[in-house]
Amino acid sequence: MTITIRPETQQDHQAVESILLSAFPTDAESKVVNAIRENGNAVISLVAVLDEKVIGHILFSPVTTHPPTPEKGLGLAPVAVDPVHQSQGVGSKLIRAGLQICIALQYDYAVVLGSPNYYMRFGFQKANSFGLQNEYGVDAEFMVIKFKSLPGSGLVKFSDEFSLFSV
Ligand SMILES: CC(C)(COP(=O)(O)OP(=O)(O)OC[C@H]1O[C@@H](n2cnc3c(N)ncnc32)[C@H](O)[C@@H]1OP(=O)(O)O)[C@@H](O)C(=O)NCCC(=O)NCCS
Repeated sequence: MTITIRPETQQDHQAVESILLSAFPTDAESKVVNAIRENGNAVISLVAVLDEKVIGHILFSPVTTHPPTPEKGLGLAPVAVDPVHQSQGVGSKLIRAGLQICIALQYDYAVVLGSPNYYMRFGFQKANSFGLQNEYGVDAEFMVIKFKSLPGSGLVKFSDEFSLFSV
């Protein structure tokens, strides 16, 4: 099984939408992804392709810190794999490729909200241990990975599109 990871193009939007709709319980993630693209906030958007079919997608968009800090950060969300192809390493490939591009683009750090058991294998650590808070009232599930430097402390907010829909 050869999986290729490549940047998303406009031709992939429909396939990505159907993956998001089948991987998540509601259409909130699909709406968020559309809004992020429309607002030009899709900094990194990659697809996983198997036999010319799109089977996975990952998006990174800018985060902000409150109070503001000079470090540049991205939020990893969402990542989704077609349920038929889950637990075969596709999500891991998308995440590793995405993190490499974050580094190439000179970002300082990235955050994610999700299962520590899953994301810690990619180098994410509990953000609260570094004084970084989130808006969702979670603790261990809010994680950060440092590429160059972290904001000293503060609230890290995902891009506004996430608060438009209840993800
Ligand atoms: C989460 C997701 C992207 C992972 O992709 P994947 O290709 O299935 O995962 P991989 O094959 O790389 O890794 C498999 C591992 O992830 C674990 N895993 C899969 N989904 C998980 C989840 N939602 N939470 C925690 N662990 C998860 C599996 O148990 C497996 O663990 P193991 O390696 O210890 O056996 C995919 O399962 C998915 O699309 N889930 C639904 C959407 C979602 O919840 N996205 C994440 C939030 S934005």
